[in-house]
Amino acid sequence: MGAVTGYLLGRNLAFRHAPSLANGLMRLTNVTGRGGDAEGDAALDYFEGVVEDYERIAAHSGVCESDGHALFKGRTVLELGPGNTRAVAMLARQRGALSVDGYDAFDLQTRDPSRLRALYEALLTRAGDDPSRVDALLAGGRVHRDAASLKATGRRYDLVISRAVLEHVRDLTALHRELRDLTTDDAVLIHKVDMRSHGFEWDHELDFLLFPEKLYRSLTTHIGEPNRVRAHGYLDVAQQYGFTPVHVSATRRISPERVSTLRASLAEPYRSLSPEELSVLGIWLVLVREGHPLARAARAIELESIPAAPSGMAPF
Ligand SMILES: C[S@@+](CC[C@H](N)C(=O)[O-])C[C@H]1O[C@@H](n2cnc3c(N)ncnc32)[C@H](O)[C@@H]1O
Repeated sequence: MGAVTGYLLGRNLAFRHAPSLANGLMRLTNVTGRGGDAEGDAALDYFEGVVEDYERIAAHSGVCESDGHALFKGRTVLELGPGNTRAVAMLARQRGALSVDGYDAFDLQTRDPSRLRALYEALLTRAGDDPSRVDALLAGGRVHRDAASLKATGRRYDLVISRAVLEHVRDLTALHRELRDLTTDDAVLIHKVDMRSHGFEWDHELDFLLFPEKLYRSLTTHIGEPNRVRAHGYLDVAQQYGFTPVHVSATRRISPERVSTLRASLAEPYRSLSPEELSVLGIWLVLVREGHPLARAARAIELESIPAAPSGMAPF
């Protein structure tokens, strides 16, 4: 525990006292949901996969037709935490979205325009589209750093997407309050949440839950380490703001038997959660607002038996 505490403390101090240096370091080390090594074809596969997974989970949960690119067609899209490229935004536009804005609390966009352009052009070429359309597709949307700036666009979003973002959000209540203001009353929200420890476990996948909340918070006030919220936390805050879950599935889990052997060593409130809930290390979450046709038919989500995500999708 000492080594991890030292690592977190050092990172937190760097982000606290030199945030622009820390942002630069994150850009240099390519901190994204796809890891540091996905360049070239691997990056193309990654971004195509991200967008296709949104389409698959949307069709699977019934919020859109399964044919073509029905999820994005005609939508006004908000992507939370796009990270260091706007590749997902561009592909969503290419699939018929009217506009795509981003909201990211950190400025991670790659500073090398030629690298970004090469990525975007290659993605369009792969999609059988004209690579010279990059600028046209990205025009009319941008990444905003705060909700006030997003609100100033005057847009209301009918599709919100995020991948590997919600677990970094410290104030989920504030985010959902803003999403309530920013979305249409029939909006669809699709989140993929990675509930793992994000690389500083030293013994098992749940050991970031060993820290009492106050200590963990004090070590991570200025960095993007995971908030440690478990499945019920995401559902509770969403429902509090009128977003009804129509689909929850587990992208990855460890066995409840393994959890049972670890649970006694975890800090509260984790120790008191059921082994079934603790076993879930990632979720797909599809939600709708009250004006969506699926809102009224939605059934309560059973946290003790979250099904596995449909097969053929990326685990994270
Ligand atoms: C792990 S990266 C994922 C990037 C991208 N979605 C992907 O899958 O490659 C997490 C992203 O969430 C952003 N983020 C962290 N906290 C946030 C917050 N409170 N609000 C919005 N974005 C946030 C980070 O800056 C980063 O872009």
